Amino acid sequence: MIEARGVSKHFGRRKVLSWLDIRVGDGEIVALMGPNGAGKTTLLRILATLLEPSSGQVIIGGGDAREDPIRTRRLVGVVGHSTYTYDDLTALENLRFFWSMNSMPRRDFQRAGIEMLRRVGLSHRMNDRASVFSRGMRQRLAIARALIHSPKVLLLDEPFSSLDQKGVDILTQILMEERSRGCSVLIVTHDVQRIAALADRADILQGGRIARSFDSSAIRRGDLDAGYRASSEAGVA
Ligand SMILES: Nc1ncnc2c1ncn2[C@@H]1O[C@H](COP(=O)(O)OP(=O)(O)OP(=O)(O)O)[C@@H](O)[C@H]1O
Ligand SMILES: [Mg+2]
Repeated sequence: MIEARGVSKHFGRRKVLSWLDIRVGDGEIVALMGPNGAGKTTLLRILATLLEPSSGQVIIGGGDAREDPIRTRRLVGVVGHSTYTYDDLTALENLRFFWSMNSMPRRDFQRAGIEMLRRVGLSHRMNDRASVFSRGMRQRLAIARALIHSPKVLLLDEPFSSLDQKGVDILTQILMEERSRGCSVLIVTHDVQRIAALADRADILQGGRIARSFDSSAIRRGDLDAGYRASSEAGVA
């Protein structure tokens, strides 16, 4: 479970988030949508404890996210806007580095690493350096890194971008598996069609808070399509 309570964030005089509340339960996939500049990436970074809110609280797995950063890091997997892979390390070494950063047992790595690279379709390139990887291959590696420590919460910022059709299918399958494992999944995306097939709920961020929510039946009825279009028409936030 992940929850933000009364989160506000301003950059100088620009108010981006204002008393925002959001909650993603166990085994739930929520799409976070909204116009360019609405604050989706900012919120995701706050939930991942990569950015401090100006005020408010983030709760992960029942505890305050800031109180125990090591525990929080182990509970959360993040796929950010950039892939943040290390060029000089191979695919497997990238995962090993992240594994050790999270103080996971060293002896368990080899199996977990190879299995994770297999899941994202990269096992045949596991000993190649990330520097020679294409954009989509780096994205697959970033997804592997977000998942390797079996997080309870997954935070993904436009994760389908630069994936080919097979990559999109792989990620869709992975997210459904993670949901059935009880993981809480929050995905920032502009892709209404993709999310219609996947999300249990879509929350629209506008005006600094969650302005509207669509449950899965409303999404399937097509209400999200119209609602999201209307929110985008307001222009860049
Ligand atoms: N480090 C920063 N310093 C100043 N302003 C920032 C900073 N980071 C974000 N902002 C501002 O916060 C607002 C929200 O940005 P954010 O990247 O969260 O939007 P977004 O909803 O992810 O948009 P997009 O759909 O384009 O990815 C924008 O007005 C942006 O200029
Ligand atoms: Mg963004």
